[in-house]
Amino acid sequence: MTTSLYPFARRMAHVEPFRVMDIQQRAFELEAAGRSIIHMEIGQPDFAAPAPVLERARQLLDDDRLGYTDSLGLPQLRTAIAQFHAVQSGVVVDPARVMVTTGASGALMTLLGSLVNPGDEWLMPDPCYPCNRHMVSLFGGLPRLIPTSAQSQFQLSAATVREHWRPRTRGVLLASPSNPTGTRIAPDELRAVHAEVRANGGVLIVDEIYLGLTYGARRDSALALGEDVFVVSSFSKYFAMTGWRLGWLVAPPDAMRGLERFAQNATICPPALAQHAALAAFEPASLAICEARREEFQARRDDLIPALQGIGFKVPTLPDGAFYVYADCSALATDSARLARELLEAAGVALTPGDDFGVHEPQRWLRFAYTCDRTLLRQAVARLKEALPHIKCAVGAA
Ligand SMILES: Cc1ncc(COP(=O)(O)O)c(C=O)c1O
Repeated sequence: MTTSLYPFARRMAHVEPFRVMDIQQRAFELEAAGRSIIHMEIGQPDFAAPAPVLERARQLLDDDRLGYTDSLGLPQLRTAIAQFHAVQSGVVVDPARVMVTTGASGALMTLLGSLVNPGDEWLMPDPCYPCNRHMVSLFGGLPRLIPTSAQSQFQLSAATVREHWRPRTRGVLLASPSNPTGTRIAPDELRAVHAEVRANGGVLIVDEIYLGLTYGARRDSALALGEDVFVVSSFSKYFAMTGWRLGWLVAPPDAMRGLERFAQNATICPPALAQHAALAAFEPASLAICEARREEFQARRDDLIPALQGIGFKVPTLPDGAFYVYADCSALATDSARLARELLEAAGVALTPGDDFGVHEPQRWLRFAYTCDRTLLRQAVARLKEALPHIKCAVGAA
């Protein structure tokens, strides 16, 4: 529970800070004081938007008024996104079911703002993306975090959904590949979860923001399960366009008008410059750039995991997507939050502790984002190796 002197609305009491942003702020302070910091805390690619997108944006600034667009997004962008789903996952989507949003964050806000009733329970895996539980709280709902483990790829199963479903449960929110673990839900398990949710008359939201960054597996989309699934995605990760604030959702046909009403009132429309420029993200030249970067991320993952294991971290299941390693630090330190603070100050390596992502054994886990080049990643591991023998929160330290 967060306390504040200002008399905020009661629902704000359950909205905790997005801690990784606080860590980043401290990292920036140290940098401003002249320290060298390796940033592995924040989940954003170390690349710019693909060159054709940048080129299109430059032209637009000269040639276009860039006024408001439709609240659902530019029709040609909605069509391009629908076609991208067909190419990426082989699922044909009617562009009328696509809504362009202000990042995946805007998609989640639109969905949860439209679907959550006060007192509704929403099931989600622990660990998961922190804003999910905070946004459910913001709209008066009750996030129910279900503990997961490496054995289930840190994902929910149909059995856990069944076990935790109660009369007040309204839906399930999951991400595949997941943040912070980088692991996917097996397609058969997702199908079973969907069947379970449907049998209970609930809602399934699947966040596929990292689907483009899948390694060595098919990019299966939850859209294949049926028109009743809500899917969230974004230009932030695969297309490396975090600051452009552009994402999308795909929704059941009969939900579109309600979601549109929410967006009309909440944001009017997503940024026009980003929308027009994003059309160039689907050109073959852009997709080739994104694919080369995906291969680079995979190579980083394959370098980083054995290096972390070599200095005492455990990585109990191979992340098959995103750009995160969720490492067990319990053999090294008693508390990952203290460890992250000490490593930032002593080694200049910024990492995110497990307490951002849930309440189930968060002290065991640290998230490493491999969003810097391989030379820097090797430097980071060397710095950690040097710092670890001196940490104060070491296992067994007095
Ligand atoms: C799982 C997940 N969903 C949503 C978001 C929000 O992304 P966006 O930049 O598209 O708002 C993030 C950002 O890290 C994320 O990891």
